[in-house]
Amino acid sequence: MALKIGIVGMGGIGNVHAGVYMNDPLSEVVAVCDIIKERADAAAQKYGCPAFYSVKEMLASGIHLDACSMCTAGKENGGDHYLPTMELLEGGIPVLGEKPISNEVEKGREMVALAKKKNLPYAVNLNHRFTPAAIKAREWVDSGRLGKLHIMNMTMWINNPNETSEHFHIRALHPHSIDVMRYFCGPVKSVHAFFMKGKGRTIWSNVQVNMHFENDVVGHLTGSYDAGGTFGLERCEVVGSEGRFVLEEACEVLTWYDRRSPQKETYVNLGGMTNFGQTFQSRLHKWLEQLTEGVKPEAVDGSGADALAAQEIIEAAIKSFHTHTVVDLKA
Ligand SMILES: NC(=O)c1ccc[n+]([C@@H]2O[C@H](COP(=O)([O-])OP(=O)(O)OC[C@H]3O[C@@H](n4cnc5c(N)ncnc54)[C@H](O)[C@@H]3O)[C@@H](O)[C@H]2O)c1
Repeated sequence: MALKIGIVGMGGIGNVHAGVYMNDPLSEVVAVCDIIKERADAAAQKYGCPAFYSVKEMLASGIHLDACSMCTAGKENGGDHYLPTMELLEGGIPVLGEKPISNEVEKGREMVALAKKKNLPYAVNLNHRFTPAAIKAREWVDSGRLGKLHIMNMTMWINNPNETSEHFHIRALHPHSIDVMRYFCGPVKSVHAFFMKGKGRTIWSNVQVNMHFENDVVGHLTGSYDAGGTFGLERCEVVGSEGRFVLEEACEVLTWYDRRSPQKETYVNLGGMTNFGQTFQSRLHKWLEQLTEGVKPEAVDGSGADALAAQEIIEAAIKSFHTHTVVDLKA
Protein backbone atom coordinates (compact mmCIF):
# COMPACT_ATOMS: atom_id res chain seq x y z
CA MET A 1 0.00 0.00 0.00
CA ALA A 2 1.23 3.50 -0.83
CA LEU A 3 2.86 5.36 2.06
CA LYS A 4 0.99 8.43 3.25
CA ILE A 5 3.33 11.41 3.05
CA GLY A 6 3.08 14.91 4.48
CA ILE A 7 5.24 17.78 3.26
CA VAL A 8 6.28 20.71 5.44
CA GLY A 9 7.52 23.85 3.65
CA MET A 10 5.82 24.36 0.29
CA GLY A 11 8.43 26.52 -1.44
CA GLY A 12 10.21 25.46 -4.62
CA ILE A 13 11.78 22.34 -3.13
CA GLY A 14 8.72 21.22 -1.16
CA ASN A 15 6.84 21.27 -4.44
CA VAL A 16 9.61 19.25 -6.12
CA HIS A 17 9.26 16.63 -3.36
CA ALA A 18 5.47 16.65 -3.80
CA GLY A 19 5.76 16.08 -7.55
CA VAL A 20 8.11 13.15 -6.98
CA TYR A 21 5.84 11.53 -4.35
CA MET A 22 2.80 12.02 -6.61
CA ASN A 23 4.56 10.09 -9.39
CA ASP A 24 6.02 7.31 -7.24
CA PRO A 25 3.79 4.22 -6.84
CA LEU A 26 5.16 3.76 -3.32
CA SER A 27 3.65 7.03 -2.03
CA GLU A 28 0.75 9.45 -1.97
CA VAL A 29 0.71 13.04 -0.68
CA VAL A 30 -1.90 13.30 2.08
CA ALA A 31 -1.01 16.64 3.73
CA VAL A 32 0.87 19.86 2.98
CA CYS A 33 1.96 22.43 5.52
CA ASP A 34 3.36 25.95 5.32
CA ILE A 35 3.26 28.91 7.68
CA ILE A 36 2.45 31.02 4.61
CA LYS A 37 -1.25 30.25 4.14
CA GLU A 38 -1.33 30.96 0.39
CA ARG A 39 1.52 28.49 -0.23
CA ALA A 40 -0.14 25.74 1.79
CA ASP A 41 -3.52 26.38 0.15
CA ALA A 42 -2.10 26.42 -3.38
CA ALA A 43 -0.28 23.14 -2.74
CA ALA A 44 -3.37 21.57 -1.19
CA GLN A 45 -5.34 22.39 -4.30
CA LYS A 46 -2.61 21.11 -6.60
CA TYR A 47 -2.07 17.79 -4.80
CA GLY A 48 -5.68 17.22 -3.68
CA CYS A 49 -5.07 17.02 0.06
CA PRO A 50 -5.69 19.12 3.20
CA ALA A 51 -3.57 22.20 4.00
CA PHE A 52 -2.11 22.92 7.43
CA TYR A 53 -0.42 26.07 8.65
CA SER A 54 1.78 24.56 11.35
CA VAL A 55 3.21 21.13 12.19
CA LYS A 56 1.43 21.24 15.55
CA GLU A 57 -1.93 21.73 13.81
CA MET A 58 -1.17 18.96 11.32
CA LEU A 59 -0.29 16.47 14.06
CA ALA A 60 -3.28 17.50 16.21
CA SER A 61 -5.65 16.83 13.29
CA GLY A 62 -5.03 13.10 13.75
CA ILE A 63 -4.28 12.63 10.05
CA HIS A 64 -2.33 9.41 9.43
CA LEU A 65 1.22 10.12 8.24
CA ASP A 66 3.73 7.37 7.48
CA ALA A 67 6.49 9.96 6.96
CA CYS A 68 7.10 13.63 6.20
CA SER A 69 9.43 15.59 3.97
CA MET A 70 10.77 18.66 5.74
CA CYS A 71 11.52 21.36 3.15
CA THR A 72 11.84 24.61 5.07
CA ALA A 73 14.86 26.86 4.46
CA GLY A 74 15.86 29.88 6.63
CA LYS A 75 19.30 31.27 7.43
CA GLU A 76 22.00 29.59 5.36
CA ASN A 77 19.16 27.50 3.87
CA GLY A 78 18.91 25.50 7.10
CA GLY A 79 17.94 27.90 9.90
CA ASP A 80 14.25 26.92 9.90
CA HIS A 81 14.68 23.13 9.90
CA TYR A 82 15.12 22.57 13.63
CA LEU A 83 11.70 23.37 15.14
CA PRO A 84 9.38 21.58 12.70
CA THR A 85 11.74 18.59 12.51
CA MET A 86 11.79 18.28 16.31
CA GLU A 87 7.99 18.58 16.37
CA LEU A 88 7.59 15.82 13.78
CA LEU A 89 10.07 13.51 15.52
CA GLU A 90 8.41 14.20 18.89
CA GLY A 91 5.15 13.21 17.17
CA GLY A 92 6.70 9.88 16.15
CA ILE A 93 6.89 10.65 12.40
CA PRO A 94 9.86 9.47 10.26
CA VAL A 95 11.42 12.51 8.57
CA LEU A 96 13.31 13.16 5.35
CA GLY A 97 14.76 16.65 5.78
CA GLU A 98 16.42 18.98 3.35
CA LYS A 99 20.08 19.90 3.57
CA PRO A 100 21.85 21.33 5.47
CA ILE A 101 20.54 19.37 8.47
CA SER A 102 20.84 22.74 10.23
CA ASN A 103 23.16 25.69 9.85
CA GLU A 104 23.78 25.37 13.60
CA VAL A 105 25.62 22.14 14.29
CA GLU A 106 24.43 21.88 17.91
CA LYS A 107 20.83 21.84 16.67
CA GLY A 108 21.75 19.13 14.15
CA ARG A 109 23.14 17.06 17.03
CA GLU A 110 19.85 17.46 18.92
CA MET A 111 17.80 16.40 15.89
CA VAL A 112 19.87 13.25 15.35
CA ALA A 113 19.77 12.47 19.09
CA LEU A 114 15.98 12.81 19.22
CA ALA A 115 15.48 10.52 16.21
CA LYS A 116 17.76 7.98 17.90
CA LYS A 117 15.90 8.26 21.21
CA LYS A 118 12.59 7.78 19.43
CA ASN A 119 14.06 4.97 17.27
CA LEU A 120 12.75 6.71 14.12
CA PRO A 121 14.14 6.65 10.58
CA TYR A 122 15.61 10.12 9.93
CA ALA A 123 17.04 10.90 6.51
CA VAL A 124 18.36 13.99 4.75
CA ASN A 125 18.15 14.74 1.05
CA LEU A 126 21.83 14.09 0.29
CA ASN A 127 20.75 13.41 -3.25
CA HIS A 128 24.16 13.48 -4.98
CA ARG A 129 24.98 9.99 -3.69
CA PHE A 130 21.76 8.52 -5.10
CA THR A 131 22.74 8.24 -8.76
CA PRO A 132 23.25 4.97 -10.63
CA ALA A 133 26.78 6.18 -11.47
CA ALA A 134 27.66 6.89 -7.82
CA ILE A 135 26.20 3.54 -6.79
CA LYS A 136 28.32 1.71 -9.42
CA ALA A 137 31.45 3.58 -8.34
CA ARG A 138 30.72 2.67 -4.73
CA GLU A 139 30.43 -1.00 -5.78
CA TRP A 140 33.95 -0.71 -7.26
CA VAL A 141 35.21 0.68 -3.94
CA ASP A 142 33.44 -2.04 -1.91
CA SER A 143 34.62 -4.89 -4.16
CA GLY A 144 38.24 -3.74 -3.90
CA ARG A 145 38.57 -2.83 -7.58
CA LEU A 146 40.50 0.34 -6.69
CA GLY A 147 42.80 -1.57 -4.30
CA LYS A 148 43.84 0.43 -1.27
CA LEU A 149 42.23 3.86 -1.37
CA HIS A 150 44.81 6.66 -1.50
CA ILE A 151 43.39 10.00 -2.67
CA MET A 152 40.00 11.70 -3.10
CA ASN A 153 39.46 14.94 -5.05
CA MET A 154 36.08 16.62 -5.11
CA THR A 155 34.98 19.83 -6.80
CA MET A 156 31.51 21.30 -6.40
CA TRP A 157 30.78 24.81 -7.59
CA ILE A 158 27.81 26.83 -8.75
CA ASN A 159 26.91 30.46 -9.34
CA ASN A 160 25.17 31.86 -6.27
CA PRO A 161 25.38 35.64 -5.88
CA ASN A 162 23.52 35.70 -2.52
CA GLU A 163 25.45 37.51 0.20
CA THR A 164 23.39 36.41 3.18
CA SER A 165 26.08 35.48 5.72
CA GLU A 166 29.85 35.06 5.73
CA HIS A 167 29.84 31.22 5.64
CA PHE A 168 26.65 30.71 3.62
CA HIS A 169 28.61 29.03 0.81
CA ILE A 170 30.17 26.18 2.76
CA ARG A 171 27.19 25.64 5.10
CA ALA A 172 24.53 25.57 2.38
CA LEU A 173 26.32 23.89 -0.57
CA HIS A 174 28.93 21.56 0.84
CA PRO A 175 26.76 19.16 2.82
CA HIS A 176 26.39 17.64 -0.67
CA SER A 177 30.06 17.45 -1.69
CA ILE A 178 31.27 16.30 1.71
CA ASP A 179 28.59 13.62 1.82
CA VAL A 180 29.84 12.27 -1.52
CA MET A 181 33.41 12.29 -0.17
CA ARG A 182 32.29 10.36 2.93
CA TYR A 183 30.17 8.00 0.81
CA PHE A 184 33.29 6.80 -1.01
CA CYS A 185 36.01 7.20 1.60
CA GLY A 186 34.31 6.99 5.00
CA PRO A 187 34.66 9.13 8.13
CA VAL A 188 37.03 12.11 8.28
CA LYS A 189 39.40 12.61 11.22
CA SER A 190 41.16 15.94 10.50
CA VAL A 191 40.42 19.07 8.48
CA HIS A 192 42.36 22.07 7.27
CA ALA A 193 40.86 24.90 5.17
CA PHE A 194 41.45 28.22 3.48
CA PHE A 195 38.64 30.48 2.27
CA MET A 196 38.69 33.51 -0.02
CA LYS A 197 36.17 36.15 -1.09
CA GLY A 198 35.57 36.13 -4.86
CA LYS A 199 35.56 39.22 -7.06
CA GLY A 200 33.06 41.74 -5.69
CA ARG A 201 32.01 39.43 -2.84
CA THR A 202 31.66 40.17 0.87
CA ILE A 203 31.30 36.49 1.89
CA TRP A 204 33.78 33.58 1.84
CA SER A 205 32.59 32.36 -1.56
CA ASN A 206 35.59 30.13 -2.43
CA VAL A 207 37.14 27.37 -0.35
CA GLN A 208 39.87 24.74 -0.45
CA VAL A 209 39.65 22.05 2.24
CA ASN A 210 42.12 19.26 2.98
CA MET A 211 40.74 16.22 4.74
CA HIS A 212 42.44 13.26 6.35
CA PHE A 213 40.09 10.28 6.47
CA GLU A 214 40.08 7.64 9.22
CA ASN A 215 41.28 5.05 6.65
CA ASP A 216 44.24 7.40 5.91
CA VAL A 217 42.92 8.58 2.52
CA VAL A 218 44.02 12.15 1.84
CA GLY A 219 41.16 14.14 0.37
CA HIS A 220 40.60 17.59 -1.05
CA LEU A 221 37.49 19.69 -1.66
CA THR A 222 37.34 22.69 -3.99
CA GLY A 223 34.19 24.75 -3.61
CA SER A 224 32.84 27.98 -5.02
CA TYR A 225 29.77 30.16 -5.36
CA ASP A 226 31.57 32.09 -8.13
CA ALA A 227 31.31 29.42 -10.81
CA GLY A 228 28.44 27.97 -12.84
CA GLY A 229 28.15 28.52 -16.58
CA THR A 230 30.73 26.48 -18.46
CA PHE A 231 32.38 25.26 -15.24
CA GLY A 232 29.80 22.52 -14.66
CA LEU A 233 28.51 21.36 -11.28
CA GLU A 234 30.82 18.75 -9.85
CA ARG A 235 33.69 16.35 -10.40
CA CYS A 236 34.68 13.55 -8.09
CA GLU A 237 37.83 11.41 -8.34
CA VAL A 238 38.86 8.52 -6.12
CA VAL A 239 42.36 7.10 -6.59
CA GLY A 240 43.52 3.73 -5.33
CA SER A 241 46.56 1.46 -5.62
CA GLU A 242 45.05 -0.43 -8.61
CA GLY A 243 43.02 2.22 -10.43
CA ARG A 244 40.90 5.31 -10.14
CA PHE A 245 37.52 6.60 -11.22
CA VAL A 246 36.25 10.02 -12.20
CA LEU A 247 32.56 10.81 -11.79
CA GLU A 248 31.44 13.93 -13.64
CA GLU A 249 28.29 15.95 -12.93
CA ALA A 250 26.95 13.51 -10.31
CA CYS A 251 25.43 11.13 -12.85
CA GLU A 252 26.56 12.02 -16.36
CA VAL A 253 29.92 10.34 -17.03
CA LEU A 254 31.68 7.71 -14.94
CA THR A 255 35.12 6.61 -16.15
CA TRP A 256 37.32 3.82 -14.84
CA TYR A 257 41.10 4.13 -15.34
CA ASP A 258 43.11 1.00 -14.62
CA ARG A 259 46.53 1.85 -13.21
CA ARG A 260 48.35 -0.53 -15.55
CA SER A 261 46.17 -0.76 -18.64
CA PRO A 262 45.41 2.00 -21.16
CA GLN A 263 41.91 0.62 -21.68
CA LYS A 264 39.27 2.88 -20.16
CA GLU A 265 35.71 2.02 -19.21
CA THR A 266 33.17 4.80 -19.56
CA TYR A 267 29.49 4.91 -18.63
CA VAL A 268 27.40 7.80 -19.89
CA ASN A 269 24.01 8.52 -18.28
CA LEU A 270 23.98 5.23 -16.39
CA GLY A 271 20.47 4.02 -15.59
CA GLY A 272 19.11 6.59 -18.03
CA MET A 273 19.86 9.46 -15.63
CA THR A 274 20.85 12.55 -17.57
CA ASN A 275 20.78 15.45 -15.12
CA PHE A 276 21.02 16.46 -11.49
CA GLY A 277 17.29 17.24 -11.26
CA GLN A 278 16.53 13.53 -11.58
CA THR A 279 18.38 12.80 -8.33
CA PHE A 280 15.29 13.89 -6.39
CA GLN A 281 13.37 10.93 -7.85
CA SER A 282 16.11 8.41 -7.12
CA ARG A 283 16.75 9.73 -3.61
CA LEU A 284 13.11 9.91 -2.55
CA HIS A 285 12.39 6.51 -4.09
CA LYS A 286 15.17 4.93 -2.03
CA TRP A 287 13.69 6.52 1.14
CA LEU A 288 10.25 5.14 0.24
CA GLU A 289 11.68 1.70 -0.51
CA GLN A 290 13.53 1.66 2.80
CA LEU A 291 10.42 2.75 4.73
CA THR A 292 8.27 0.16 2.93
CA GLU A 293 10.77 -2.54 3.89
CA GLY A 294 10.67 -1.40 7.54
CA VAL A 295 14.23 -0.07 7.56
CA LYS A 296 16.03 0.02 10.91
CA PRO A 297 16.84 3.67 11.76
CA GLU A 298 20.59 2.97 11.79
CA ALA A 299 20.40 1.50 8.25
CA VAL A 300 18.85 4.58 6.58
CA ASP A 301 20.87 5.53 3.49
CA GLY A 302 21.78 9.24 3.54
CA SER A 303 20.75 9.53 7.17
CA GLY A 304 20.47 12.46 9.55
CA ALA A 305 23.67 11.12 11.12
CA ASP A 306 25.40 11.31 7.71
CA ALA A 307 24.20 14.88 7.26
CA LEU A 308 25.38 15.77 10.77
CA ALA A 309 28.81 14.26 10.07
CA ALA A 310 29.10 16.50 6.98
CA GLN A 311 28.09 19.55 9.02
CA GLU A 312 30.70 18.72 11.69
CA ILE A 313 33.35 18.76 8.93
CA ILE A 314 32.03 22.11 7.69
CA GLU A 315 32.32 23.64 11.16
CA ALA A 316 35.80 22.16 11.53
CA ALA A 317 36.82 23.79 8.21
CA ILE A 318 35.52 27.17 9.40
CA LYS A 319 37.35 26.78 12.71
CA SER A 320 40.53 25.72 10.91
CA PHE A 321 40.51 28.86 8.79
CA HIS A 322 39.80 31.27 11.60
CA THR A 323 42.37 29.68 13.95
CA HIS A 324 44.95 28.85 11.26
CA THR A 325 45.16 25.27 12.56
CA VAL A 326 44.40 21.67 11.61
CA VAL A 327 41.18 20.68 13.40
CA ASP A 328 40.64 17.11 14.62
CA LEU A 329 37.11 15.78 14.65
CA LYS A 330 35.90 13.90 17.71
CA ALA A 331 35.82 10.15 17.09
N1 LIG B 1 18.80 18.70 -2.10
C1 LIG B 1 18.94 19.61 -3.04
O1 LIG B 1 19.47 19.36 -4.12
C2 LIG B 1 18.43 20.99 -2.79
C3 LIG B 1 18.39 21.94 -3.83
C4 LIG B 1 17.92 23.22 -3.54
C5 LIG B 1 17.48 23.53 -2.25
N2 LIG B 1 17.54 22.57 -1.27
C6 LIG B 1 17.09 22.85 0.11
O2 LIG B 1 15.68 22.86 0.14
C7 LIG B 1 15.23 23.66 1.24
C8 LIG B 1 14.06 24.52 0.78
O3 LIG B 1 14.45 25.39 -0.21
P1 LIG B 1 13.39 26.33 -0.98
O4 LIG B 1 14.15 27.04 -2.02
O5 LIG B 1 12.19 25.54 -1.36
O6 LIG B 1 13.00 27.36 0.21
P2 LIG B 1 11.75 28.35 0.26
O7 LIG B 1 12.15 29.46 1.17
O8 LIG B 1 11.27 28.67 -1.11
O9 LIG B 1 10.59 27.49 0.96
C9 LIG B 1 10.59 27.16 2.32
C10 LIG B 1 9.16 27.20 2.82
O10 LIG B 1 9.13 26.74 4.18
C11 LIG B 1 8.13 27.46 4.86
N3 LIG B 1 8.34 27.32 6.32
C12 LIG B 1 9.30 27.90 7.08
N4 LIG B 1 9.16 27.51 8.37
C13 LIG B 1 8.08 26.68 8.41
C14 LIG B 1 7.45 25.94 9.45
N5 LIG B 1 7.89 25.99 10.72
N6 LIG B 1 6.39 25.18 9.14
C15 LIG B 1 5.92 25.12 7.86
N7 LIG B 1 6.49 25.79 6.83
C16 LIG B 1 7.57 26.55 7.10
C17 LIG B 1 8.28 28.86 4.33
O11 LIG B 1 7.13 29.64 4.57
C18 LIG B 1 8.53 28.59 2.84
O12 LIG B 1 7.34 28.58 2.09
C19 LIG B 1 16.46 24.41 1.74
O13 LIG B 1 16.91 23.81 2.94
C20 LIG B 1 17.50 24.20 0.66
O14 LIG B 1 18.83 24.11 1.17
C21 LIG B 1 17.99 21.33 -1.54
